[in-house]
Amino acid sequence: MPDPAASLSVFLETFGCQMNVLDSQLVRSQLLGLGYRFIDDWRRADVILYNTCSVREHAEQKVTSRLGWVGLHKRNKPGVVVGVIGCMAEREGEGIVRKYPQIDVLCGPGELDKLPMLIDNAVRTTSGGKVQAALQGNAHRRSSTLAAAEDELELLDLARSFSPDEHQGSAYVRITRGCNKFCTYCVVPRTRGAEVHRPPDHIVDECRHLVDSGVVEITLLGQTVNHYHYDHGAAVILGGVQQPQIGAVVSAKGIRGTSSRVTTFADLLRRIHDEVPGLQRLRFVTSFPRDFGDDILHVIRDCPRICRYLHLPVQSGSDRILKLMNRDYAVAQYTDLIDRARDILPGVLIASDLICGFPTETEDDHRMTMALMERARFKNCYVFKYSPRPGTTAHERMTDDVSEADKRRRNNELLALQSMISAEIHQQCVGRTVRVFVESISRKTRKRRNAADPSVELTWEKPEEIAQLSGRTDGDLIVMFDGDESLIGSIVDVEIDKAAPLTLFGRQTTRVCT
Ligand code: SAH
Ligand code: SF4
Ligand code: F3S
Repeated sequence: MPDPAASLSVFLETFGCQMNVLDSQLVRSQLLGLGYRFIDDWRRADVILYNTCSVREHAEQKVTSRLGWVGLHKRNKPGVVVGVIGCMAEREGEGIVRKYPQIDVLCGPGELDKLPMLIDNAVRTTSGGKVQAALQGNAHRRSSTLAAAEDELELLDLARSFSPDEHQGSAYVRITRGCNKFCTYCVVPRTRGAEVHRPPDHIVDECRHLVDSGVVEITLLGQTVNHYHYDHGAAVILGGVQQPQIGAVVSAKGIRGTSSRVTTFADLLRRIHDEVPGLQRLRFVTSFPRDFGDDILHVIRDCPRICRYLHLPVQSGSDRILKLMNRDYAVAQYTDLIDRARDILPGVLIASDLICGFPTETEDDHRMTMALMERARFKNCYVFKYSPRPGTTAHERMTDDVSEADKRRRNNELLALQSMISAEIHQQCVGRTVRVFVESISRKTRKRRNAADPSVELTWEKPEEIAQLSGRTDGDLIVMFDGDESLIGSIVDVEIDKAAPLTLFGRQTTRVCT
């Protein structure tokens, strides 16, 4: 019997965080391996997949509007298979199919290893068949034994493709999945499940294979990377595969003590740095402001290829609000951490996230957040208006009582202050030479090319246009400069001659490595 996947085309759109970007890459390589083809035009696809995010209502609205269009499209092309995968599938569960009967496949982020089977079933039963679903549902708060015995998701990461076509010199590597923190506003522990920590050998091997395939920069991913903790004494091997371990629910006393049989986050960073010497840049997101020990800062100080950059979301500058958010730290602990970081790592750049308009937030609370922002001097800060998420403690137990107008004003005030601080930090770079990992052509060049008439591009009269390239410094500052596209995926030196609040501009001096 012919393989039904062999001729099927897939359109896959990704929303949300870097975890989702990585999940989409893993899904893509899994489906490519089975003979599916990927295309950019959803109207021509046999399978339409949305890898979704639930963190704010707005993120979900983007997907529901897509589903509206797809519903109309399906009236003329009933055979098309529509899949909602990722956090929104998990949060909404099968109930979403009542609202959007055009959905054929639902797959939570913890079940993505089952996606090919679900798509295959849906392809075979398209004419009004039952939705094909794999969700963790109530099983997602697993015990440590179950986590060890059931973590087939590890196989998805292990089956990753290392083809140089799959990256442009930069790659994500997951170190933990899920989250045990339960911040009261946050949907992630409910969509991604309990925190599990991948075996360090798997992580180091993955980094090594990526570098062998040409990767220059690796970003380690986890919701609270500094809580990484793998106890070798308790390691379980199943079917020849070392299993991930459930993370500790961090108590008021902090994370469990360490022994020689434990790999901590600091140990993991050092192992990757030392055992993968071809890796030019190692970075990690996201750090949690509690239990971030000096051991981690010392490893960064001692390992030149680990970036001096921390993404440390603070969320609020008011202790009262932090408590209501269940963040488990006070503002003073946060400022102590950034002082320690700057002391041990001169020149370190720190980015953060803030939520404005959390239930009961007063003008005084807001002023405290503004004061913290001024004190902390983040290099950039993502500011979000509080969005109540069904299923979270804040949604169930607190009233969303800050008006939309106040949220918007506080949001704008925070952004204006951050913009001033970012501009000052950028200004200090003018005249200096910075090392830049070149990521892509800039949005400006891409837009100009898309707008250009392709037939004009091909005429001999038109001189070859120099691209504006976009990249990042070790401290994650965005740099634009004119250069040859062959530089994408390599590290170059750029002399900065102009600064704007969000971007540095300069000219390339030397190429450092490919
Ligand atoms: N694990 C990371 C954050 C993951 S979610 C951490 O703990 O910092 C990314 C960001 O989305 C959060 O830092 C927070 O600022 C924002 N966010 C999460 N839930 C939100 C909500 N309900 N409303 C508004 N912003 C939210
Ligand atoms: Fe959400 Fe808090 Fe976990 Fe971050 S640490 S993912 S904000 S619950
Ligand atoms: Fe969104 Fe899920 Fe990431 S809710 S932010 S895609 S972990």
